[in-house]
Amino acid sequence: MLPPPRLVATPTAILSALPQEQHGFIELLQNPRKVTHAGRDFWLGTLHGQPVVLALSKIGKVAAAITATALIERFGVERIVFTGVAGGLGAAVNVGDVVVATDFVQHDLDASPLYPRYEVPLYGRTRFDSDAALTALLFKAVCGALAAGSKSGITRRFPEARVHRGLIASGDRFVSGARESRALQSALAGAGHEVLAVEMEGAAVAQVCLDYGVSFAAVRTISDRADDSAHIDFPRFVEQVASGYAHAIVEQFLALL
Ligand code: ADE
Repeated sequence: MLPPPRLVATPTAILSALPQEQHGFIELLQNPRKVTHAGRDFWLGTLHGQPVVLALSKIGKVAAAITATALIERFGVERIVFTGVAGGLGAAVNVGDVVVATDFVQHDLDASPLYPRYEVPLYGRTRFDSDAALTALLFKAVCGALAAGSKSGITRRFPEARVHRGLIASGDRFVSGARESRALQSALAGAGHEVLAVEMEGAAVAQVCLDYGVSFAAVRTISDRADDSAHIDFPRFVEQVASGYAHAIVEQFLALL
């Protein structure tokens, strides 16, 4: 019998902010080829049987938008999957948990009183959605990765790790204070945005992908609680834990395409 047809022919971009979040991925590529463009290294090849482009956004919304645009314009990707870490804002979102983004808001965007707070001017919208189908696959991949967690060491370190699905806030600020994160969360909630986590790139990539009609999904492992110890928790998690989650999730995800 013939194997089932694969859904994917064009490469999938696997995007992270930092090299530590993709540690070990380049070594797993078959037929790896490096292309340097716009001050960034893009790695093309086959990962777990699927054509991929590995890329780093660097940190912040502008840098992320540049990488996303390059992935689309130069490498022709039709789907971008972000894997990285975030600070937990939702009450039940703990270090070691995983958040799959349904949509994004820019928490530092404020063109009021010309436009409502958080609204992106001239887009007529505040929130940018992830692609529903791609996000459903990513959610399934995370559940699979956590279920198989003992193999990758995830459940040994974080036996209570849970997966959440919801809104992520992005902004050009590392949130590292309990008072600040509470204020951020309540300001957003007051405008009707119940956020689960905060990071620095997702909303920018979502906006680029909307403009180009490219599918986008994102998964963030919680490295810190955006509180007074975030500046200690974040680097430790990024160095020691983040790529283990990324490998487990991306392997499951690519098998679903
Ligand atoms: N990414 C991971 N933790 C974060 C935090 N506390 N603030 C912003 N981005 C983050």
